[in-house]
Amino acid sequence: MRLWGGRFETGPAEALARLSVSVHFDWRLARYDIAASRAHARVLAAAGLLDPDELGEILAALDDLDVAVETGQFRPTIEDEDVHTALERGLLERLGALGGKLRAGRSRNDQVATDLRLYLRDHARGLAQQIADLAQALTEQAAGHVDTPAPGLTHVQHAQPVVFGHWLLAHVHPLLRDLDRLRDWDVRAAVSPLGAGALAGSGLPLDPPAVAKELGFRESFANSMDAVSDRDFVAEFLFVTALLGVHLSRLGEEVVLWTSHEFGWVELDDAFTTGSSIMPQKKNADIAELARGKAGRLIGGLVSVLTMLKGLPLTYDRDMQEDKEPVFDAIDTLSLVLPALTGMISTMTVRVDRLAKAAPVGFSLATEVADWLVRRSVPFRSAHEITGQLVALCAVRECELDEVSDDDLAKVSPHLTPDVRQVLTVSSALAARTTPGSTGPGPVADQLAVVTEQVQKWHTWAAAPIS
Ligand code: ARG
Repeated sequence: MRLWGGRFETGPAEALARLSVSVHFDWRLARYDIAASRAHARVLAAAGLLDPDELGEILAALDDLDVAVETGQFRPTIEDEDVHTALERGLLERLGALGGKLRAGRSRNDQVATDLRLYLRDHARGLAQQIADLAQALTEQAAGHVDTPAPGLTHVQHAQPVVFGHWLLAHVHPLLRDLDRLRDWDVRAAVSPLGAGALAGSGLPLDPPAVAKELGFRESFANSMDAVSDRDFVAEFLFVTALLGVHLSRLGEEVVLWTSHEFGWVELDDAFTTGSSIMPQKKNADIAELARGKAGRLIGGLVSVLTMLKGLPLTYDRDMQEDKEPVFDAIDTLSLVLPALTGMISTMTVRVDRLAKAAPVGFSLATEVADWLVRRSVPFRSAHEITGQLVALCAVRECELDEVSDDDLAKVSPHLTPDVRQVLTVSSALAARTTPGSTGPGPVADQLAVVTEQVQKWHTWAAAPIS
């Protein structure tokens, strides 16, 4: 069963057929191909190329085939080169010669570009829902830790205290941007290539805008050559998934750190951890590690498609058959990773006691001393020097900043009066951070309210019908 062959004296060589076949992966597009076929049939009828009876028969056969595909009664065979070939076989089985009429005015080149856009737009919603679920799990955890002090890090060294809710929300914002990118991508992906034919449009009186409308696209192509050549929508989708993968890997890495004995800030639920085959005591954060590891294949998918496209002459080239597996893999990968991460985050226990204890460690309140001096008109440059000397003294004495005697404070600098100790608590450092977006409990509560609303808005977008 081939869609070509009239001019060939021999059949394809086994080696060619094996290389060429794509039906084992593009079969996922079957139901989208059928939807596009319905729209195409209507347009052929409107053009007078199918009479009303023929249209009725074709639509009924497409419905029947759709059900057979969905239930698995109709399956592709290895003889079918691709999804389009298999479905034409299904139509011929149902309609005889009439089934051969539907191919008029279209090519697999415009079909496959249409099918993949339909598939991705549909799956983008499912992906968005899963991203929003993870964002929600992080936000709900954050809600419980709006005033839980934690040691904020730079260079994985104690830097300044933060509240742990702020930290968790810092992982939500990248996800919200990923959702925004997905919606933005969708606007550009909402262009129908159907009617572009092989590359030149059709001499038959087709109606690409009508087809576009029926399939939920915003508009039809402006240039038939671009319509069959363009895979920007694939590359852009893969950029969104690659960057999402990078974000998940950063969250994963932090969970690995937080659950280590050295940190001990978070405990994972048994259901979301794994054991070791030899060490009975082990409880490993495998989900977090897999999230970190899967970023590699997500980035790889983007690189493979960009590399495949680079330098390709217009219009369709068979190279472009390589566009599908990376996106299918990205969607499959993320639909495994995201629910697992969501479950892991929503069931984890935050060790508030250990975080609070760690918050002031490592002279993390030194900046408060410098800021205190600034409020007393000491130039920050000198304040930084003075505070540095105080830290050096504490390091030698193995004591904390607030344990230095009044005399020693004065020896470091006459500016350092005993009431500097007022700023040497984690709670005062946090409370002082009242400006929007900073880590004080007040602004974090404000941030939480905004983020909660945004997450809800994304759930709504993802559930809405495609338009
Ligand atoms: N299977 C092809 C693809 O995925 C579509 C078929 C176009 N083939 C062709 N020889 N024009 O890109």
